[in-house]
Amino acid sequence: MKIEVLRIGQRLVRDDRVTTHVALVSRAFGASKIYMTEVNPDIKDTLKKINETWGGDFEVEFIEKPNAVLKSKKQDFKIIHLTMYGENINQIESKINKNDDYLIIVGAEKVPREIYENADYNIAVGNQPHSEISALAVVLDRLQDGNQFKNKFKNPNREIVPSKNGKNVTVHKKRA
Ligand SMILES: C[S@@+](CC[C@H](N)C(=O)[O-])C[C@H]1O[C@@H](n2cnc3c(N)ncnc32)[C@H](O)[C@@H]1O
Repeated sequence: MKIEVLRIGQRLVRDDRVTTHVALVSRAFGASKIYMTEVNPDIKDTLKKINETWGGDFEVEFIEKPNAVLKSKKQDFKIIHLTMYGENINQIESKINKNDDYLIIVGAEKVPREIYENADYNIAVGNQPHSEISALAVVLDRLQDGNQFKNKFKNPNREIVPSKNGKNVTVHKKRA
């Protein structure tokens, strides 16, 4: 299964940290790429440094037209739009084919009507307002049944050795 994330409608500056966390959750929970609009270019550098330190090749791409990304993915990916107005995850989960590839869309402020209309699934992680970070984490976990945490991130400079108490980190030689 391939999973990508589309982050739309960031409120300038105010949402920088949230958008960075959406990208970090995407990477850590098994997505391979995030598309985002109107953002602080520092977010790309932050994720590049995270890849260098902790491994993997998670991609960040800045885009202008979210709907164009959605349409270009429609043929090969199922589109999930996360919204508190959608069908409750507990009802819809059994209807989702976990072998398909997914583009998951998260918003910031009001999401255009056409996103709701073009999505294959409008999914609510509970029908109460909360956060795109939490909604994304829950859906990524449900789609992969926790298996994302078995993934090894390739060529890390640092690798955590899980520890009952304290911090245990293996430092590898710098990759080229
Ligand atoms: C601050 S919320 C905006 C809420 C907004 N009223 C809306 O259109 O849903 C930002 C994003 O968080 C996600 N989100 C918030 N609550 C959610 C929920 N209960 N289920 C799924 N996604 C949610 C959605 O992707 C939403 O676009």
